[in-house]
Order: sequence, then structure tokens, then C-alpha cells
Amino acid sequence: MTVAGRSASELYQRYVNLSPVAGVEPVTVERGRGAELWDVDGRRYLDCFAGISVVSTGHSHPRVVEAAREQMERFIHCGSLLYEVPVVGELAARLAEVSPGALQKTFFSNSGAEAVEGAMRLARAFTGRTEFIALETGFHGRTNATLAVTGNRKRKQHGGPYLGGVAFAPAPHLTRCRVCGGACTLRCADAVEDVINYHTSGNVAAFIAEPVLGEAGIVVPHPDYFRRVKEILDRHGILLIVDEVQTGFGRTGRMFGIEHFGVEPDIMTMAKGIASGFPLGGFIARPEIADAFQPGEHLSTFGGNPVSCAAAVATLDVIEDERLCENSARLGEWLLAKLERVAARQQAITEVRGKGLMVGIELGDRGGATTAAQQAVQVRAACRERGLIIGVGGFFGNVLRIQPPLVITEEQLASAVATLDEALTATA
Ligand SMILES: Cc1ncc(COP(=O)(O)O)c(C=O)c1O
Repeated sequence: MTVAGRSASELYQRYVNLSPVAGVEPVTVERGRGAELWDVDGRRYLDCFAGISVVSTGHSHPRVVEAAREQMERFIHCGSLLYEVPVVGELAARLAEVSPGALQKTFFSNSGAEAVEGAMRLARAFTGRTEFIALETGFHGRTNATLAVTGNRKRKQHGGPYLGGVAFAPAPHLTRCRVCGGACTLRCADAVEDVINYHTSGNVAAFIAEPVLGEAGIVVPHPDYFRRVKEILDRHGILLIVDEVQTGFGRTGRMFGIEHFGVEPDIMTMAKGIASGFPLGGFIARPEIADAFQPGEHLSTFGGNPVSCAAAVATLDVIEDERLCENSARLGEWLLAKLERVAARQQAITEVRGKGLMVGIELGDRGGATTAAQQAVQVRAACRERGLIIGVGGFFGNVLRIQPPLVITEEQLASAVATLDEALTATA
């Protein structure tokens, strides 16, 4: 691909501000279909990262493309809260149908961070309170308010001081819980009450958490964690905001990650997989909470873009018709079992964990010259050289992330596991 005779790499280096990113992968993408991508030289890749866990129905699913094209031909933008747009209303109704409990009214944004910021504002408006509790190692976006509730020093670097009135509770971890000292005994959940009592003024609007902590390294809480926390929050009149930006839309094997934990959030945020790659986010709440905003208090020019909303309706149709939640649940289990076998051979792996097609492979430091985080980057490169795209993340940068499009097949995943195994051996 050239612009005025120059390659995309050259243009990127010269004109795209790459300073805040850890490094662009040396793949110049030309097209994608399903779980596969092709570069400008015609080289094929199996995509097991889906654009950071976004293209839920796969690259350019024909039904998503068609829905977006149809809407584009009608009109692209008019202000979805200035005028009524049929497809925006349709999407909101569909979201109410698939969301847990009595969540009903959605406010649409363009991204995950905006959805979280809006949810925080709504919690303040409804409760009349100002403070928040978030989780250590949790991640909620890169804007000022979302970084304030992000429990990760590296992400927050050079941005402070952040919004005051944010306290952090210990991160839950099913197998290696810092507070519980190993396998989780829910002491970490009980600690939320201590945080309320010792670290806040009691004026807490909401507790915000991801059902599975994605950027922290795909960390899965104890199955009773959220039930226990919700009991504490209810006693103190604190709302539960569940951040489903990464876990939503089938990623964990259910439509929303919180469904694994048997609690109903008061407010839920969404983005990433909602529209198969079109920019869209939103937060949904029960009507009595949603209606706490006063006229003029919140708006987004592009929020609820009709083309993105049409793509989102088609995404929900595809998730249902192609049974993608079921595919994610089944292949997730299958993948964990296969990776456990790889882990038994590969000494670098300290844990394999996840839910549905949201799987993390944690590498450990083994005292050599190469750290686990460095090896993770090497494994990603070795996979890429073999035609497989994976992610790297985690609080310490030592987790390989497998979060493919939900349309991926068992056969494709089997080839991914074989490639990963090879890459681990090559970098051992
Ligand atoms: C749980 C969670 N919340 C919020 C965000 C921010 O979303 P966006 O990058 O669309 O602003 C992310 C992004 O990774 C996320 O994982």
C-alpha cells in the first residue's frame, strides 16, 4: 500500500504520533474476513486478538457490512439525540432485551472510556454522592476520569493529579488472591467494606469493576465475589457499575460477563464488541437511575451514530443466529483444556485462565536474562512470524492474550495452539 509512492510504514513513522504506544506490530493490514487477516503482500494471518477484543462477529461479516451500507445510503449522521433515528431506537430496545435484570435505557457514546465517564456522571447524578471505589489493577480507559478509576500506575503515568475521591479495593483473583493469600476465600470481597469505612468519607456514589479484569491479565474473580460485594454495596446505598466494555457481547461465553456471577448491576457500560468494529459505546441503567440526568446535562455529537447502531443491530442478530455465545463458551473450555496440556510442557507458563474466548496465558520470570514480559513480546513476534496474531498484556506485561473473533472455528484454534506451542519453544 503506498500513498504518493510511500509505504504505510514510512507514513506511520513520519506522520502518526506513535510516541504513546508501545510499538506498532510490523503488519500492514489490507483486508480481513472472519478470523483471518491479509497483509499488503498477500500474507495470511489467523487473528486471535480481534483488534483488542473488538470484532466479535469477525472481520467484515457480510450481514454487518450490509446493514452499515444500507444505513450509509440513507444518511450517515444527523445527531441521534437531536432527532429520532429508527435504528438507534431499535438498538436501544434490543440492548434492553439482552441486558441483565431491569437495565433498560441506554445512552450512546463513541468509545468505552466515554461510556465509563458517562456512567460515572450518571451515578453521581442519581445518588447525589461524589466518590468512587474501583479495583486495584482494574482498567477503564484513557481519559482523565477513567484513569482516575484505573488501578495501574503505568497507565496513569504523567497524567495526574486525577479526580479526587477515588479509593481502591484489592483485586479479586480466583487462584492467587493477594488479600486471601492464595486461592480466593472472599476476604477480598469483604475488604470492600473496609475500603468504604477507612478510605472514603462514606459519600460513595458507585463501585466500578470489570467482571473479568482484561487489561490486568484476564483475571477471573471467585464465582461469589460480586454477590458478596453487592450485599455490601446495597447496605451502604452504593451503586454497582459493571464495566462490560471488554467482556460484553459473548466474549466470556455469555452475552455479558456479569451473568457468570448472578448479580444485577445498577449501571453497565459497553463498547468494543458491540458493533463488530464500528465505533460505538454506551451505558445502560434502570429507568429510575437513567432519568436522573437533567436536560442539557449530557450529550455527545457523534454518540449513537446511525451507521454504528445499524452495525450493532446486525451484530446482535449474528451473535444470536450463529450462536456465538455458545461457540465462545464451548471453544473457551476446549481452549483452556488444550492450553493446560501445553502448560504442562512449557515451563515458562505459570497459569492459564479465562472465560469463554477471553483467555490469558501467564508467563513467569525464571531468573534468566530475559524477563517474563520480554518473553511475552518475543512469543508474540514468533507467533506473528508464523502467521498468528495474539495480544500481550497484564499488569506486569507477562500475559499472552487470546481473544479471537467469536466466529473462530475449533480447527483454527487448534492451529493457533500448535503455533503458540512452537513459539514458546522457539523463545524458551
Ligand atoms: C474494561 C475496559 N473499559 C474501558 C476501556 C476503554 O475503552 P476505549 O478504548 O474504547 O475507550 C477498555 C479498553 O480496553 C476496557 O478494557
